[in-house]
Amino acid sequence: MAVLVTGGLGYIGSHTVVELINNGYEVVIVDDLSNSERFILKNIEEITGKKPFFYPFDLRRRELLTQVFDAHQIEGCINFAASKAVGESQIKPVDYYENNLFTLINILQEFKERGISNFIFSSSCTVYGQAEKMPITENTPLKLPESVYGKTKQMGEEILIDFAKAYQRKISLLRYFNPIGAHPSGKLGELPIGVPNNLVPYVMQTAVGIREKLNIWGDDYDTADGTPIRDYIYVVDLAKAHVSALKKLMESNEQTVIDIFNLGAGKGSSVLEVVKAFETANDVKVPYQICPRREGDITIAYADVTKAERELHWKSETPLEESLRTAWKWQQYLESKTV
Ligand code: UD1
Repeated sequence: MAVLVTGGLGYIGSHTVVELINNGYEVVIVDDLSNSERFILKNIEEITGKKPFFYPFDLRRRELLTQVFDAHQIEGCINFAASKAVGESQIKPVDYYENNLFTLINILQEFKERGISNFIFSSSCTVYGQAEKMPITENTPLKLPESVYGKTKQMGEEILIDFAKAYQRKISLLRYFNPIGAHPSGKLGELPIGVPNNLVPYVMQTAVGIREKLNIWGDDYDTADGTPIRDYIYVVDLAKAHVSALKKLMESNEQTVIDIFNLGAGKGSSVLEVVKAFETANDVKVPYQICPRREGDITIAYADVTKAERELHWKSETPLEESLRTAWKWQQYLESKTV
């Protein structure tokens, strides 16, 4: 029996593959390499001592997916494969709907026809928009996301809930807050293509000199230091939550399970706090300038993680500085590869 991990060479996917292998699962990766690199597969093997099955397939092509399901006894899927650039999703909405939703529907067709249960979906805290109350619980009302990317996540959740109800299957919707950091080995991490949009990759590229200065998008928010607050969660902790969520589904005696979990550290940090923590952790300077606000940014978002603690027996305990140290180690690994 094997677990299908789509997008398994990507940022969160690759860390999750390592945790799955460490927990004795057989892993089948499908990843079209559109936002990842083949060397990640080799690094997964170096870290775990095991080589997962790998197919470089585009999951929009159903006939290729069918081949994978024919070749392996799939007992569950963790679906990371998706386009995730918020800005790009506004310019290429049809491509985003096609890539993120066709992929999902193709896997669900295979699940439906073959009677497979246990589906884990990468969702995002973006489904809450600017929530009125902090911390954000799983019962916080959803808002229609502003971005097409966010809409594909909300639609994906709805498709999965309908799927679970109609065919009596088990699903888990994992709403990530802001994943950061890298594997402690320094061999897995986020591979930003072009100019990074997310804070930590931009901080790293500034510290290493690829970017001249970090642009801090606004310091006039209604927060203690004026910069927005997010819940930064260490990627290895996040990966471990997937293993717990999968185990929970597999061990449940219920036929239909619809799980929803917020996955964060349960603590908010401001942009300036992240920059300071990075500087302290790595003893480097990050030059920055204050710029006007970025369109679409919210003031504050952090998770109430008590449900995940209670039901998944999971908690993210890695301090911000430690995860930022791993991020820096990964950046140096990337530098050494390009030299
Ligand atoms: C962004 C996406 C969100 C997605 C998430 C994935 C937007 C509007 N939202 O969220 O949909 O789920 O990434 O991780 O793009 N910042 C700077 N300078 C930078 C980069 C970021 O000041 O160069 C600030 C931002 O204003 C924000 C914080 O850092 O306050 C975090 O930004 P980012 O990493 O892009 O995450 P989100 O905006 O939370």
